[in-house]
Amino acid sequence: MTEVASPTAADSGASATKTFQERVKSGATADAARVNAIASDALAALREVVRKHELTYDEYNVFKAWLIQVGADGEWPLFLDVFIEHEVEQVANANRRGTAGSIEGPYYVEGAPEFGSEGTLPMRDGEAGRPLRFFGQVRSVTGEPLPGVEVDFWQADDSGLYSQFAPGIPEWNLRGRFTTDPEGNYTIHTIHPAPYQIPTDGATGALITAAGWHAWRPAHLHIKVSAPGHQLITTQLYFTGGEHVEDDIASAVKDALILAPKPAEDGSGEQVRYDFVLDPA
Ligand code: DHB
Ligand code: FE
Repeated sequence: MTEVASPTAADSGASATKTFQERVKSGATADAARVNAIASDALAALREVVRKHELTYDEYNVFKAWLIQVGADGEWPLFLDVFIEHEVEQVANANRRGTAGSIEGPYYVEGAPEFGSEGTLPMRDGEAGRPLRFFGQVRSVTGEPLPGVEVDFWQADDSGLYSQFAPGIPEWNLRGRFTTDPEGNYTIHTIHPAPYQIPTDGATGALITAAGWHAWRPAHLHIKVSAPGHQLITTQLYFTGGEHVEDDIASAVKDALILAPKPAEDGSGEQVRYDFVLDPA
């Protein structure tokens, strides 16, 4: 049997569920009044959809079967991060003055290999994709450069696949943690990622097909920037003119997060600068 190179619900979805369960603690301390208010409104919104569309029993049963399948495929992290997380992110980061946030998505893994202020991400020999030098400075909202800041970086490869979630990719491929130098600068040598397609063979893909939507996110870089005394920012960067920048299925593109790379000075691939600005804690 040859290994299937495309992401499947069974691998990407199940890995995303497992990673989430290991990393995020349960909300055992939730306040009853807030649970009551939120759960009541969520259920009322669903009941309103039933009335508005005069849902049939057949449709109700399709809905039940689909909900069961999302869980069976391990796709709740994928589904929620595509269709809901962008609203949560906007609420969470509404008062920031620094760099705009964007969704984390289901594919972050803690503990990536550490580099200094400059390094090349772990890559396979001959890793496909245009070389990209991604560099910049981290500053506070008052303009001071911030040294010793962690820049935690992850991305998909040239096929839109993430290490540790799609099969057959070395563990830390295209993942790394960098630390800004005394002037607050970092430089990451990587490759230009490809657009990401939501796995089409699982329950999320089935909904997208049934509804006639497309399943694509634009090519993007993922970054978490954190420093003592500052708020951690989780964001993504996109590429101007890239496919699906205008119609991201996850609604996570913001104008301030679109990069415009130029040909690299040394003639290899492209380079682009992005400066992060951290809000005080
Ligand atoms: C999903 C995948 C991503 O790469 C991302 O950044 C956000 C969401 C997803 O499949 O849910
Ligand atoms: Fe992503």
